Amino acid sequence: MKANAQKWIKPSVLLQPVYEPGKPIEDVARELGLDPAGIIKLASNENPFGPSPRALEAAQRALLHGELYPDGGCVNLRQKLAGRLGLAPEQVIVGNGSNEIIELIGHALIGPRDEVVMGNPAFAVYKLVTLLFGARPVEVPLLKQRHDLGQLLGAVTSRTRVVFLASPNNPTGTSNTQEEIEAFVRALPPHVLFVFDEAYSEYIENPPDLRPLIAEGRRVICLRTFSKIYGLASLRVGYGYAHPALIGALNRVRQPFNVNAIGQAAAAAALDDVEFTARCARENRAGLRRLEAGFVKLGLEYVPSTANFVMVNVRDGGAVFTELQRRGVIVRPLRSYDLPGWVRVTVGTAEQNERLLHELEQVLPR
Ligand SMILES: Cc1ncc(COP(=O)(O)O)c(C=O)c1O
Repeated sequence: MKANAQKWIKPSVLLQPVYEPGKPIEDVARELGLDPAGIIKLASNENPFGPSPRALEAAQRALLHGELYPDGGCVNLRQKLAGRLGLAPEQVIVGNGSNEIIELIGHALIGPRDEVVMGNPAFAVYKLVTLLFGARPVEVPLLKQRHDLGQLLGAVTSRTRVVFLASPNNPTGTSNTQEEIEAFVRALPPHVLFVFDEAYSEYIENPPDLRPLIAEGRRVICLRTFSKIYGLASLRVGYGYAHPALIGALNRVRQPFNVNAIGQAAAAAALDDVEFTARCARENRAGLRRLEAGFVKLGLEYVPSTANFVMVNVRDGGAVFTELQRRGVIVRPLRSYDLPGWVRVTVGTAEQNERLLHELEQVLPR
């Protein structure tokens, strides 16, 4: 099959690395003969409190019209998002997860021999999309696990088309300030698009606000998602906001019905449940403090996080991942990020956090 594949599949596709997702509960249950009800997944930075009840209700209502194509323009959701952001609906695009918008940016802007600048470690999809479009990823090592924007700027050349930066960053959980990011964007040459990934911004109290830069006409797109604090990862809804010219270009390269109706309805309802998201953010901060205190007690180095996950040095990330999994706790090993000693742990409910710390103590290499 492999020899054969080389004859008819594009060589670039055969060389394309594959994204390693967090392990689903069902897979672990099947592989290890465990009861899925006893397994907890702290591997993909999902919301341990699930979706808001209002989102669930809206999703159920939308399912009753499952025979109809969704609104291809996501009109209602876009209007609602634009209203919240104080932007025009033409400045907002909704995607099948923010991952899809990252890919649309590739379609619209990135070509062979271009360069795309990103931190290392950073969200794996930036590099995958760069490679998919035949461009060269330029990875800039983080400084003390935080993006060093001076270094990132130093990596920009005449070939750079896009710079990706998430704040909080995945997998480190570290953030950059409004001042740092603003100065960085102002220093970027005009042929570069800055992609500011705000997947975890709802977890921090005063996240940077790049809308004034967008209003000035800077080449900036901000990405957000319903997969994290809104607890809707399975429905795949994310969005981006930017200058209407860029949003128009991304709309040209997307599929006509890229976001399903159930996701659109759930996302719109989730936006209204501000008490739910405020509670999730509060619980998350308490959970982070608990996990970090637990790591200190176990003598483990960790990276202080601003997100809903934390990276911890367990000395042998692969072994600890496997052992925890046997005990029904799924975390994320970071070997694919070149951090073989580390795992990334999502902040769970109070009960899940206690269970993780307890099991971790049992399985740590002595
Ligand atoms: C930094 C970052 N950006 C984007 C995403 C993708 O989110 P979505 O589910 O909206 O595709 C993730 C998911 O883990 C992420 O960590």
